Amino acid sequence: MNDADSTATPVVRLMDVSKSYRKGAELVNALSGVSLEIGERGMVAVAGPSGSGKSTLLHLMGGMDLPTAGDVVVAGQTVNRLSQQELTIFRRQTVGFVFQTFNLVPNLTALENVALPMEFNGVPKAARLERATKLLQRFNLAPRLKHRPRELSGGEMQRVAIARAVANEPRLVLADEPTGNLDSRSGQIVYELLQEIARERTVVVVTHSEELARLADRVIHIRDGQLLDGTRTAAPLATADRRA
Ligand SMILES: Nc1ncnc2c1ncn2[C@@H]1O[C@H](COP(=O)(O)OP(=O)(O)OP(=O)(O)O)[C@@H](O)[C@H]1O
Ligand SMILES: [Mg+2]
Repeated sequence: MNDADSTATPVVRLMDVSKSYRKGAELVNALSGVSLEIGERGMVAVAGPSGSGKSTLLHLMGGMDLPTAGDVVVAGQTVNRLSQQELTIFRRQTVGFVFQTFNLVPNLTALENVALPMEFNGVPKAARLERATKLLQRFNLAPRLKHRPRELSGGEMQRVAIARAVANEPRLVLADEPTGNLDSRSGQIVYELLQEIARERTVVVVTHSEELARLADRVIHIRDGQLLDGTRTAAPLATADRRA
């Protein structure tokens, strides 16, 4: 697999990317000719109305969906040219995903949920339990290690999900409306956690909230599958420009 130069190349580069879906006889253009670059570390918000292509954009960056045209390059790997096996490894090691509905495994404890991606990645049991414990402690969930998702609040579930997303130390964390199912206070805590994570890795977060988007280092506006002027050519995020 081609490796990434961690400093010189952007973490995400989309080149003239389009994605269309067939809905019966109709072709839906979810994304049309999107080009963008996102640099190392920092938080980028993706904002736009419902149906504008935000989730599609995130799924393409995470290798969960493939473009109809164009190239998606993440951490030096051209996602749309990977084999199935390479794609599986890419999704496991290079990206972490945070969902609006948390998507925790219901019959596993918080600790086991966070350890699971490390198990898939071949991390020995003692090491993955140690790292999962440390992550949950760091996210103020030390008293919740043995709790199952139904015994946690929404905000707690999302913090567990974020710990799970960073378990394998991905370069890129993708969060699709992570605060959408939370009250404003829990949403604020989750958002601050994502900001903290963005000091170490690149975080791309879809949000409907203008208020939350403003807290990001950069906002990408999308309408009808296209980036609005100004975001298409925006320079990669320079470390020096970021909020401390
Ligand atoms: N699997 C699919 N099959 C067919 N059409 C799809 C599929 N996924 C998305 N679309 C269509 O692509 C367009 C973009 O959808 P997308 O989910 O990316 O929007 P979104 O900005 O995330 O919207 P929301 O804010 O409601 O989540 C929409 O018209 C949607 O109906
Ligand atoms: Mg969406």
